[in-house]
Parts: sequence; C-alpha cells; structure tokens
Amino acid sequence: MTDTRTIRARALRRPLVPAYEPILAPVEIPEAHYRFTLLPDYLAARAVERELFQSGIANPYFRSIESIAGATATIAGRSLINYASYNYLGFSGDPRVSEAAVQAIAQYGTSASASRLASGDRPIHRELEAELARVLGTEDAVTFVSGHATNVTVIGHLFGRKDLILHDALIHNSVLQGSVLSGAKRVTFRTTTGRRPIASSPSIARFRARADRDRGRLQHGRRHPGPAALHRAAQPPSYFPDGR
Ligand SMILES: Cc1ncc(COP(=O)(O)O)c(C=O)c1O
Repeated sequence: MTDTRTIRARALRRPLVPAYEPILAPVEIPEAHYRFTLLPDYLAARAVERELFQSGIANPYFRSIESIAGATATIAGRSLINYASYNYLGFSGDPRVSEAAVQAIAQYGTSASASRLASGDRPIHRELEAELARVLGTEDAVTFVSGHATNVTVIGHLFGRKDLILHDALIHNSVLQGSVLSGAKRVTFRTTTGRRPIASSPSIARFRARADRDRGRLQHGRRHPGPAALHRAAQPPSYFPDGR
C-alpha cells in the first residue's frame, strides 16, 4: 500500500525526502524580532516616557488607585481630586450597585467564560440592555465591555469603503481605530471644542504645531515620525501640559 507522501512526491515529480530533515537552512533571526526590549512599540513607549520626564511632567499612566474612583481617589495614601475617571453618576461604590454585583457573582460567578456569541450570554445582559433601551427610548440596546471596544466595533462595522468619515483631529483613539478598521475615507478637521484658551497658551500652540506637522506626515504616508510624535498626535486636548 503506497503512502500519501509517495503518491504526492510522484505527482509533483519530486524526489522523496526524509520527513524529519529540515528543508531550509536555519536563518539568523535578528534580535530585534524576539528581544522584548528591542521591540519598536516598547522603544516607542520608553521614548514617550523619556520625553515626559524631560519636560518635568510626572508619568500620568498606570497610577494605582487604592479606593473607589469617585470625585476623589486615593493614590499612594493621598486623597486626590479625581479628573481621570468616568464614574460620573457614582454608581461604582453605590451600596445598592455593589450588593447587586455580589448577588450576580454568587449566581453567575466572576466570569462569563466565553464571548456572548458563544456561551457567554447571561439573562442580566438582556435585562440591562432592555432597561437601557427603555430609559433611552430606543428599540433596543447592545452593551460592550468598554467604550473603546464599542467605538472600534460599531464604527468599524457600520461604515465601509464607500463612506466618508469627517472627524475632529483630536478625536479619541477608539473612534480613530474604528474609522480606520471600517476602511472609510477619513477627513479630519481642527478641533472645535470651543475651548479657545487652548490655542492661547504658547506651549500648547508649540505642541499643537508639532502635533499637526506629525499628523500631516502620518496622513500623507511620509517617513514614520517616531514614537513621541505618534504619541503627541494621538493625545486628547485634556493631555496638554498646562492641564487645561
Ligand atoms: C471620548 C472617549 N471615547 C471612548 C473612550 C474609551 O472608553 P473606555 O475607557 O471605557 O474604553 C474614552 C475613555 O476615556 C473617551 O474619553
């Protein structure tokens, strides 16, 4: 009984080669392809960090909050006014919400253990969406795990190559990523947040000029402007050093 490998070798008129012998000579893989500290994104993040430290701004990222993130939050034992969370209605930390969460954990566990499409759907998902639709006066509602996932998923799905998306030049990354995913044509316009003071501050004006120049390079596919520029280009107005 001739085995499939022989039949295939004959069909391809190729000599039979032993299966265990490597066909290709081992190739030298550049270190930058596997050493984490040489990965471009890692180097980009370090460059941004260096730029932050050089301008004397304390690194705003990954500050560990030791309390409920409400109007105030505790960081390193200090109670601080919190401008960085969206617990606007104070639901997080509300005893009624916490109690309901405990009951839900007791019934469903701490994980949906699959996407809702597969087997992760729970009655409470439907109850929440029905209540949101009732409150918002819509036919139905769909909830996602985060705002970022919502924008990327919904914009990336609803729009396509035949569409044009006009968006604020400093729009949130999730909207940008959703727009890019959709394949729609994108046209950006200068931010119209109405916060004119932003333009008046010299350092902000310098920062914006550099961000616009970098964004211009990005949009016209010119040489990659480097991590810091990417970082500048992707920042929302609230990021600017004078805290406005
Ligand atoms: C305007 C805007 N859209 C989307 C998001 C993403 O939301 P999430 O942090 O829930 O992913 C944010 C988060 O800050 C945001 O400010």
